[in-house]
Amino acid sequence: MSQTSPRKILVTSALPYANGPLHLGHLLETIQTDIWVRFQQQRGNDCIYVCADDAHGTAIMLTAEKNGITAEQQIANVQAEHEKDFADFLIGFNNYHSTHSEENKHYAETIYKRLRDNGHIATREITQLYDPEKELFLADRYIKGTCPKCKAEDQYGDNCEVCGATYSPADLINPKSAISGATPIEKESTHYFFTLPAFNDLLKEWTRSGRLQDQIANKLGEWLDLGLQEWDISRDAPYFGFEIPDAPGKYFYVWLDAPIGYMASFQNYCDKSGLNFDDYWDKDADTELYHFIGKDIINFHGLFWPAMLDSAGFRKPTAIYVHGFITVNGQKMSKSRGTFIQASTYLKHLDPEYLRYYYAAKLSGSVDDIDLNLEDFTQRVNSDLVGKVVNIASRSAKFITKGGDGKLSGTLANEALWQQAVEKSTVIAEFYEQREFGKAIREIMALADATNEYFDSQEPWKLAKEEGKEQQVIEVSSLCINLFRLIMIYLKPVLPNTAEKAAAFLNCQLEWTDNLEPLLGHTINKFKPLMTRVDKDKVDAMVEDSKEAEAKLQSQPKRPTKENTDDFIEFDDFAKVDLRVAEIIAADHVEGADKLLQLTLSLGDDGTRNVFAGIKSAYNPEDLVGKLTVMVANLKPRKMKFGVSEGMVIAAGPGGKDIWLLSPDSTPDSGAKPGMKVK
Ligand code: MSP
Ligand code: ZN
Repeated sequence: MSQTSPRKILVTSALPYANGPLHLGHLLETIQTDIWVRFQQQRGNDCIYVCADDAHGTAIMLTAEKNGITAEQQIANVQAEHEKDFADFLIGFNNYHSTHSEENKHYAETIYKRLRDNGHIATREITQLYDPEKELFLADRYIKGTCPKCKAEDQYGDNCEVCGATYSPADLINPKSAISGATPIEKESTHYFFTLPAFNDLLKEWTRSGRLQDQIANKLGEWLDLGLQEWDISRDAPYFGFEIPDAPGKYFYVWLDAPIGYMASFQNYCDKSGLNFDDYWDKDADTELYHFIGKDIINFHGLFWPAMLDSAGFRKPTAIYVHGFITVNGQKMSKSRGTFIQASTYLKHLDPEYLRYYYAAKLSGSVDDIDLNLEDFTQRVNSDLVGKVVNIASRSAKFITKGGDGKLSGTLANEALWQQAVEKSTVIAEFYEQREFGKAIREIMALADATNEYFDSQEPWKLAKEEGKEQQVIEVSSLCINLFRLIMIYLKPVLPNTAEKAAAFLNCQLEWTDNLEPLLGHTINKFKPLMTRVDKDKVDAMVEDSKEAEAKLQSQPKRPTKENTDDFIEFDDFAKVDLRVAEIIAADHVEGADKLLQLTLSLGDDGTRNVFAGIKSAYNPEDLVGKLTVMVANLKPRKMKFGVSEGMVIAAGPGGKDIWLLSPDSTPDSGAKPGMKVK
């Protein structure tokens, strides 16, 4: 551990929206933050990492509605998925909370009241477009219409994707609510504003006080020079969020209480751990506070947030660390190319540490975008981690186990080589501290190269066959094992799982102290493989899977309400479906299939059809024989794992025992005949 007294640090990542699954873009941020946090902890600092789901807003309200569940259910489902994905990527949060929480309500209200009492809240009437059918004010992105400039149809409320024109939604020709399709009307209502211009001077000074990367300080500087506008912090009901105290029917805009969610999650952690909230958030707190965020949300964190904290009498962040966006194979993540990769899709195919390593190797302290090139990813992980690092351990361990009974030598074969590697500690630590992870990785890989070169130059595999060279073999291998240990100490923030396995093999902790001592005369355990190679086929499978995951999302019909008629099919499409009465003349289990029954269906004069139906959980085959049902008779035959399916029976229900085959209320002898058209 470091000899100076430990720093007290609180770290956050931006709160992901509770509106959908995490993807590899979100993971860039949490992996960056997590590596930094683990580094601080490994160096002996008190470093706490909190995050939460960002649960409020219109989008979440509408998603819940579309899914037919309450907003509370929606955010609970998504939060559970988020937490699982993060845990699987080894993100070591001390606490993960929600902005839809008691703590957040408390701090949002507290901060709002303080701003108000300080005269930093203004109200005025504004006119906005309103959906008269849905009874909802429409944010720009919920309005669509014809571009006033180039006349392209179906453009969003504030800019045209065809000609690039920007305009106000009121200028759109033939505007429509994207939610209901209704023609919006203009409507007035009172809004609450945070008086940002009052903080212009404070922010000019704060943004230039070394708390932001230069690029970010410059960008914010441009905005500050233009002069800030008052910030609209209220939304009218219906809205999923917190009602503003003393303002019935008005809600805090999601971005007001989102950063307050950092405090809320920390408060929630204090209640569990006994830490003192004020030590970290008091105006005079001497602890450090860092927010890791993406470059798209710097106005909220670099302007609005410090101004709010200042007015409300809380401390401001020590620094805000901004990262760039992820591209995949040189392009924006694309759903059709299969490069919009969800965290869970990645995890189905690949080890999380591969991505942690690749991101680390690419990350710097700048806001530049980062490319995840999947070929480079495969090659880099294989050559660096498997080919260089793990290789050192596997080839040296052999000689220690065989020749030395698992005991390392009592002296170092090459003191200078060891010293060099130890001396790298300072610069590698400094690179981690500065978020120059790529540079840290380069230093570490140079050590791995030097170690492998040393091993090769000593040719212990030859020495082992020579008489009297046994001790030399052990010494060479022992030095390499010691160097491997150093390398794993330096890599531990990036590869926590592999580091744990390495610690078990080395039979010692991987602490990063200021005095790194070699293991001499120390007994190690038998070497077990620490990491497998990235399999290119699995990378390809992940991309295919991502295309499918997306296609599934796209093809999911929205709930067939009056508002969703966009997804309705035409009558002509429906008329193509040839529905026939079918008699089930045989029904059998399918060997090896959990869900399927194999049905033989008679269409009378039109012959029989073999159909696989996913109804095994609901029906015994013997109970079905002789019954009538309805089938789609003109579905193209489809090859399945168990045979060709020549149609589809019609069934509905939530699943399990509750699946009902459609059955014409009739028997073969009383009217309905197999093969009859269903009208
Ligand atoms: N809910 C807000 C943040 C509130 S913080 C008080 C939000 N959520 S988000 O889910 O859209 O994004 C969460 C974080 O992920 C942001 O910092 C954002 O910049 C980052 N990223 C989202 N997509 C990204 C990439 N494609 N690449 C890198 N980071 C990206 O914004
Ligand atoms: Zn246009």
